[in-house]
Amino acid sequence: MDVVVAPMQARHFGGFHECLDAVCREERHLAFIEAPPRQEVETFLRDLMARGCPQFVALDDERVVGWIDINVNTLPGFTHSGRLGMGLLPAYRGRGLGRRLLESALAAAKLIGLKRIELQVFASNGPAIKLYERAGFVHEGRRDRARILHDIPDDIIDMAYHFS
Ligand SMILES: CC(C)(COP(=O)(O)OP(=O)(O)OC[C@H]1O[C@@H](n2cnc3c(N)ncnc32)[C@H](O)[C@@H]1OP(=O)(O)O)[C@@H](O)C(=O)NCCC(=O)NCCS
Repeated sequence: MDVVVAPMQARHFGGFHECLDAVCREERHLAFIEAPPRQEVETFLRDLMARGCPQFVALDDERVVGWIDINVNTLPGFTHSGRLGMGLLPAYRGRGLGRRLLESALAAAKLIGLKRIELQVFASNGPAIKLYERAGFVHEGRRDRARILHDIPDDIIDMAYHFS
């Protein structure tokens, strides 16, 4: 069955938590090595939803297999910007779903008038960096050896997308 990209709804929260946890436990691509507790995640998601932040899920027969969200900044002077996070279960990578999720989130961000989307990505995460570059994100900086996990150092790259 085709994977569908759809706006996140409350009924997806449980599936989102499982999906997030699975990607965290790979201990490679995200800063967390396991998802925060379900209630904490749900509170975060409900807050994003209440504020109208872009939030989408990738669904395979109603199972959440990926997500993207943009957490709009609430600080005075920063409300034109938001922070992007995304991920897909391993079996769903490398077939264009990341691009579809990103296109949906950027379109939604434009609709609500955001001017700048920021993100952080590990330097070792080639597919993610390529995806963001292709979409028009630019590199804004690099933090050398920002993470050292299990004795393996990794840099963090700051990237941003600017709406003209
Ligand atoms: C990063 C991620 C969301 C990308 O989504 P995806 O569906 O795998 O990516 P796509 O299939 O849309 O491909 C995007 C680009 O990356 C390339 N790519 C995909 N997998 C790749 C791989 N393993 N190695 C190199 N390039 C790869 C694709 O060729 C494509 O480039 P193109 O436009 O030149 O063809 C996904 O791989 C993922 O969930 N990774 C783990 C979690 C994560 O890294 N989240 C982001 C944290 S910043």
